[in-house]
Amino acid sequence: QLTLLRAGTLGLALAGDPVARLFQAPWKADPYATYARLRCDRGLTWSRSGLWVASTYADAHDVLRDRGFGVRLSSGAQPFDVTGGPVHEGTEPNVLELSLLGLDPPDHGRLRRLATPAFSARRIEALRPTVEATADRLLDRLDVRRGTDLVAGFASPLPVAVISDLLAIPAADAQQFAAWGHTLGAALDGVTSVPHQRRMLRAQTDLRVLFERLVDERRRDPGDDLLSRLASAAESEVRPGEHVTVDEVVSLAQLLLLAGFETTTNLIGNAVRALHQHPEQQELVREDPGLAARVVTETLRHDPPVQLTARVAHEPRTVGGQQVRRDQVVLVLLGSTGRDEAEHEDADDFDLTRPEGRDTLAFSGGAHYCVGAPLARLEGEVALRRLFERWPHLAPAGRAVERGTTVIRGWRRLPVRAA
Ligand code: HEM
Repeated sequence: QLTLLRAGTLGLALAGDPVARLFQAPWKADPYATYARLRCDRGLTWSRSGLWVASTYADAHDVLRDRGFGVRLSSGAQPFDVTGGPVHEGTEPNVLELSLLGLDPPDHGRLRRLATPAFSARRIEALRPTVEATADRLLDRLDVRRGTDLVAGFASPLPVAVISDLLAIPAADAQQFAAWGHTLGAALDGVTSVPHQRRMLRAQTDLRVLFERLVDERRRDPGDDLLSRLASAAESEVRPGEHVTVDEVVSLAQLLLLAGFETTTNLIGNAVRALHQHPEQQELVREDPGLAARVVTETLRHDPPVQLTARVAHEPRTVGGQQVRRDQVVLVLLGSTGRDEAEHEDADDFDLTRPEGRDTLAFSGGAHYCVGAPLARLEGEVALRRLFERWPHLAPAGRAVERGTTVIRGWRRLPVRAA
């Protein structure tokens, strides 16, 4: 009640609940003004939909790193959709198999330990030549002189090719793999209708069948790829007393595809868009393409691909002076944390020369910190570097089309041409 009153004085309650607004079209286009108003609240904001909202860096950081929070209710159920997406009438929540994202300890750690070695800084750096070659191959095919869609031709196929390579998905399956990944990745924003749900479930089942076949093949005839390593762990003792099932391996492989797909695509798209909107910053990159890693960091702060996540209190917690009761859900606005003026001066400016701040929360934090963060950074850096080395004067060419989704933020179409 108090929180609502305070929200009211800020003008939030006038047009309805702040959280509901985040899922409405005008705010999807630019959620940052809504975030700014939420950050004016002292501590967490209470939403009429029965959720708490963490919008400052400090509160988001505290919730994500607090072991008193997890992703499941005390009943074992997921609160609704851990991505925070709305559930629509007639559809079932939690149709997406979330693997790690939907697990609490001890299952979470047991499974996560399987995946993390493959994403160590050393292993990922060793992938650089392959990622560069893939980026170059895609750029060779882009007709940038006449104008082309950067998302369809580059930002989307690059992460799919990289993860297909890492999992050694046969070329014959790779296209289907990408199509299913696309359908499921888009569902991270919630399921919008019964037909949408049916499409998703079909994609999920088909993808599962593919992975079941591949895991089975790799168990019998392992190669030197990540999927073989995961497959060989199935049904064996990974640590004393710890086992993982074939089903768990299949779900994990599925998550690795989904988690690294739309996210990295939108990192590249959001970065290019930001440079186009700030020509003086693109000029810096034109002079020094080595700034590509800075572009990645600044995009993750200024306009990150994953805007929010959610946590459930496993026991009563105090965050930002507010009491969060057991089983209450906190929506964590990752996209708001990079715009927090308490962390970054002139936080709304896209500025490649700004000093490094505290660790970004664009990859979340705590137990669920993005496993693929080093790979995402590498892909983003290589993509932007190769792109601007080739076409230093890359310019927008026609109307860019937003995805218009809340959880994953980015561009569906980004027409560009070499100026
Ligand atoms: C988890 C963001 C790329 C694999 C996460 C989470 C975020 C995130 C925010 C945690 C969600 C939560 O706390 O509830 C991103 C962004 C990316 C990216 C912004 C690109 C710019 C990747 C890539 C991979 C990957 C390339 C792997 C191929 C994962 C996995 C998890 C995860 C496996 C689950 C970790 C867990 O629950 O323990 N990612 N991600 N991500 N990400 Fe990423």
